[in-house]
Amino acid sequence: NVGNSTNIRWHESMVDRREKEMLLGQRGCILWFTGLSGSGKSTVACTLEHLLHERGHFTALLDGDNIRHGLNKDLGFSAEDRAENIRRIGEVAKLFAESGGITLTSFISPYRADRDAVRARCRPGEFLEVHMAVPIEVCEARDPKGLYKKARAGLIKNFTGIDDPYEEPAQPEITVEAYDEEGKMRSPVEMAQQILDMLDE
Ligand code: PPS
Repeated sequence: NVGNSTNIRWHESMVDRREKEMLLGQRGCILWFTGLSGSGKSTVACTLEHLLHERGHFTALLDGDNIRHGLNKDLGFSAEDRAENIRRIGEVAKLFAESGGITLTSFISPYRADRDAVRARCRPGEFLEVHMAVPIEVCEARDPKGLYKKARAGLIKNFTGIDDPYEEPAQPEITVEAYDEEGKMRSPVEMAQQILDMLDE
């Protein structure tokens, strides 16, 4: 399916994915972080990428703020624009995964249907949803960019968790809890390590 395009034909590569993965000694995949603003998605994804790199893995990191400065700078935060944001990021992530990269994406991606649409475009087992299960009260108390404060004051409209929805994943491959068994807040390094342990398993 090539969308609305006509006279376009899909080209098979002469170097297939398996050969690239063998060269790299790993399997390409997408670690799709989802969670509220301030849930630590970017920090944990960044830390995990560093841990993977230290272990000799080829990685790629696609991050919300950065992508919205370039590839998706024409998009805002309406439901339609968020859907298009996630669709494009999904396609880019697939290209990296197809090249054998362990691809980490860090976007709120608030709508289940948008995340599921990316999953549906992936091979079985390729798309791993990582839910940053940090309660909104914690995210709002952190408010690293002061955006919750602005949203509460009505200065930002359609802010996720305040006056825009966040739909939690129904069956994420990995759930990252904010607190440990003793009720202590987990650090980003602990969270990244937890994900790494689960990937090892
Ligand atoms: S989405 O929903 O997946 O398309 O959003 P994303 O591309 O991840 O961008 C989220 C970052 O944009 C800032 N921002 C907002 N977030 C949510 N709602 C509204 N209305 C909004 N306006 C700006 C915010 O800094 C988000 O960054 P993070 O890193 O999640 O805090």
